[in-house]
Amino acid sequence: MKADIVVGLQWGDEGKGKVVDYLAKDADCVVRYQGGANAGHTIVLKDKRIVLHLIPSGIVRGKLSLIGNGVVLDIDELIKEINDLESAGISVKNLRISSRAHILFEHHRETDKASEKAKGKLSIGTTKSGIGPCYVDKYDRAGIRVGDIADMRVLEEKVRSYAEFFNKTKAGGYRLKKLDPGKIMENLKEKAERIRPFIVNTDEFASNLIKRKKRILFEGAQATMLDIDFGTYPFVTSSHPISLYAFAGSGIPPYFDFNVIGITKAYATRVGNGPFPTKMESAVDRMMRERGGEYGATTGRSRDCGWLDLFALRYAAFINRCDELIVTKLDILADTGDVKVCTGYTYRGKALKGYPDSTEVLYGSKPVYITVKGWTSKDIAELKNGTVKKSIRDFVKLIEKHTNTRVSHIAAGPERNDIVDLRRH
Ligand code: IMP
Repeated sequence: MKADIVVGLQWGDEGKGKVVDYLAKDADCVVRYQGGANAGHTIVLKDKRIVLHLIPSGIVRGKLSLIGNGVVLDIDELIKEINDLESAGISVKNLRISSRAHILFEHHRETDKASEKAKGKLSIGTTKSGIGPCYVDKYDRAGIRVGDIADMRVLEEKVRSYAEFFNKTKAGGYRLKKLDPGKIMENLKEKAERIRPFIVNTDEFASNLIKRKKRILFEGAQATMLDIDFGTYPFVTSSHPISLYAFAGSGIPPYFDFNVIGITKAYATRVGNGPFPTKMESAVDRMMRERGGEYGATTGRSRDCGWLDLFALRYAAFINRCDELIVTKLDILADTGDVKVCTGYTYRGKALKGYPDSTEVLYGSKPVYITVKGWTSKDIAELKNGTVKKSIRDFVKLIEKHTNTRVSHIAAGPERNDIVDLRRH
């Protein structure tokens, strides 16, 4: 049995949705293991553009698609997504949701907004989808889980106790409206009916997959530099996008070989607050944003653009134990002239050996750049036809040298078929 884990190596938005959609053709089951509706995975299918926030991208190919226990599930968003998929003619009959996933409620979104406001200069620039507050409840052991929906009387009791807890501890401090358990239950009733058929105990689900030697594709959301432990803390999300959480966040233990596929753009982007050492000077940043359509799929916010950071990438490839890399959006840099690439940082005049674990050092770090020859849109067209021109090959070699990891594919356009398998050329 084999499994692939797809992880973002930068600050998210590397094009993981497209890669997962491409790889899903060979998978039996696609799994989301962390995060929530803060993610936005865009898939372009001929005339349709589908944005998925919670449901694994594999659903589009009719694959068994699991939302794991590590995800925080916004039921309103989930139902909207199910409706959108169904109206696009895509069936959700293969969707499964772990009974251990935590439910994200409207008050989590409200708390997220209030917490960002209260933090002032320390604000993270979250997507305001309630992710942090929902994980806070989970780790505070106050959360309500998807499995609690099974018995409405149990659910009602839990909602009542939770509302009491929230009203005592949080509502006042954040100046939020007190929760009314009756209203929450009223709102949940119909929605609970709708999602109940998808709920599974993942023990049985996982053991079936393993017994039958099914091929699993784990779909990471966000990315390594946003990981709660290994990212640029505190400017991170509240979950573990890194590869090793794939097992803990899905309930599918690794009784099999697995292959970790790290995704990086040919440049970098970041949205929200926090250090971004290779951020481009403003005119280039603006040009790249327009060319690359660098606007959030979830919030519409504009993303800052930067040069490819091989120093950060080496760190991310190591942390995830990457077996291979996929470089996306190579076409966006075409015809822009020479390309800058960061190979290291200096801090107070000295070259840093390892990637900084402190935000303060990151803010004070200066990237060291080299300049490489760029490529043209003609080179990109030839790439799609299977010819890898020297400038592109040299760029790939540079990434491989600095990350110690081979580049297996390049994505050079928005369509499903714009992914080129370099192992064939
Ligand atoms: P949160 O995940 O909404 O709490 O936001 C925390 C940080 O992660 C903010 O900087 C967000 O902009 C960033 N973030 C969360 N999800 C994504 C994503 O899917 N792509 C890029 N950045 C994200």
